[in-house]
Order: sequence, then C-alpha cells, then structure tokens
Amino acid sequence: MKKQPRKIARIIEPRTVMEGAGVKLIRSIATSELDHVDPFLLFDHFGSKDPADYIKGFPLHPHRGIETVTYMISGHVNHKDSIGNSGSITDGDVQWMTSGGGIMHEEMPQPHEDEMIGFQLWVNLPARLKMTRPRYQNITSDQIPEIEREDGVKIRVIAGEVDGVRGPVKEIVAEPTYLDISNPPDGTFSQPVESGHAVFAYIFEGAGFFGAEKPETDTPIAGPRLVVFSDGDQVSARASDQGMRFLLVSGKPLNEPIARYGPFVMNTQQEIEQALEDLRKGTFIKEN
Ligand code: CO
Repeated sequence: MKKQPRKIARIIEPRTVMEGAGVKLIRSIATSELDHVDPFLLFDHFGSKDPADYIKGFPLHPHRGIETVTYMISGHVNHKDSIGNSGSITDGDVQWMTSGGGIMHEEMPQPHEDEMIGFQLWVNLPARLKMTRPRYQNITSDQIPEIEREDGVKIRVIAGEVDGVRGPVKEIVAEPTYLDISNPPDGTFSQPVESGHAVFAYIFEGAGFFGAEKPETDTPIAGPRLVVFSDGDQVSARASDQGMRFLLVSGKPLNEPIARYGPFVMNTQQEIEQALEDLRKGTFIKEN
C-alpha cells in the first residue's frame, strides 16, 4: 500500500518560561497556544551555557497521573524520590518516570562546563492507570542504540523501532516512539509512523524541511521549533545546507477528558481536588 505522508499541521515557536525554583526554559506544549497533543501534555527544552539559568533546579515536588520523560543531550541532573531512588542523569541518558498515583521527587541540574541541553516530555496515563504504582526506567546512554544509515543520518532509538532496531524503553501504554535524529547537510530522512497516533518533531539544531515529495514550507524551519503533523503513516524530512538535529516523537492518543493542575493531570476536577487534599493530609504517597 502506498504510504500516506504526514503533513505539517502546526509550527509552534517555543516560549520562555520560569519553572521550579527559577529555571529558565522554553516550552512548546502546555501553553495557551498549544495545551496538549494527546497523549503528550507538556514539552520543555532546557538549553543554557549559564548555570544561573538552571542551578536552582526543581526541589521536592509531587506528580500524579502522568509519566515524565527526561532526556539529557548534555548536562547533569541529580534526582531523588519518595520511593528510595536516587542517581543522576547525564550526557545522553534518559529517565522514563511513571508517577502513577503519587511520587515526590527533586530534579537538580548541576553546573556543567558545556552548554546544558535537555528535554522533558509529559505523557498522559489512561484513567485505569492514573493511580498505578510509580515506576522508573533509568536508561544510560550506552543502552540506547544508535543507527547510522548509509546516507550519514544518525538515529538514537530511545523508544519504538527503526530499521528493525528497538529502543530500550519498554511497556509504556502510549506505545511511544522517541528518536533523536541527526541529519547531515541536505540529508533526507524518512520513517514509518503508526497511523492515528500523534506525531511531533522538535528541531533543536540547524534547520530543515518536512514533506514527502516536496518541502511544505518555502524556507527551512529553523530550531527551536515544534512541528505537529496531521495523520498519515510516514514522516519525511530534509535538512537544510546547515544540517538539522531533531526529536521525532509519537504516541497513541487516549481520547479521555483532561483535568490538569500543575504537576497533576487527572480526568476530573474532583480528582485534582483529591490530589491537593492528599498532599495537605500527608496521604499523597501511597503504601507500595
Ligand atoms: Co518532576
């Protein structure tokens, strides 16, 4: 069957926000312009050469009803949580955290000599799993396969499958694909994606075009930009003459009502009230 190329539905310019105890970052999902791309609830990009932009970090805070995915390109974040995990996420590592019914954790970036570059994505959990047990998948850089295609395109496979190679993230309800793609100058990239799933690309270095037979924009889209695609079963890209590095993320929509308040994302406002009350009463963290 002929492939249905995905077209560009929206191009989002990230906006600068302050989060945590004073971390400067740019956000492209969870803004007034783009609330969510079901099942994705938030997308943040940390990028700074100045530790003052991130050193205050994200001191102890709760999460309920979601998964948070942290991918560090370059940098060092120490983390610690209410179920006894602690460690660091450094250059090339991924942490896929399922908050389930409740977790308290801190995420503290450390000073880094190079530019700090990292991303956090929130993935929604379906109603039946919002109160599930918390779980961590800590994946070090060396566990992430990197494919090099003949044309010089390099692909780190964090989740999903490319050219028969599967990423290390397992058993996630959203059936996610999470790829980090480095396209050399003028290099082309094409990847099958699941029809009906949400798909976005996030360009963070260089610039490029999207579209199967011909580019859909007159000029290359320069990072940082988030591109949301319409439905179809194939994504195609071509780097400009400066090359392009981007994330390609896809997941299965939940089609459930969303009630969100800060670090909690539930189905109803009443469940949000419950989360706040559990926090006040000290019953937020469930016995495991
Ligand atoms: Co957090």
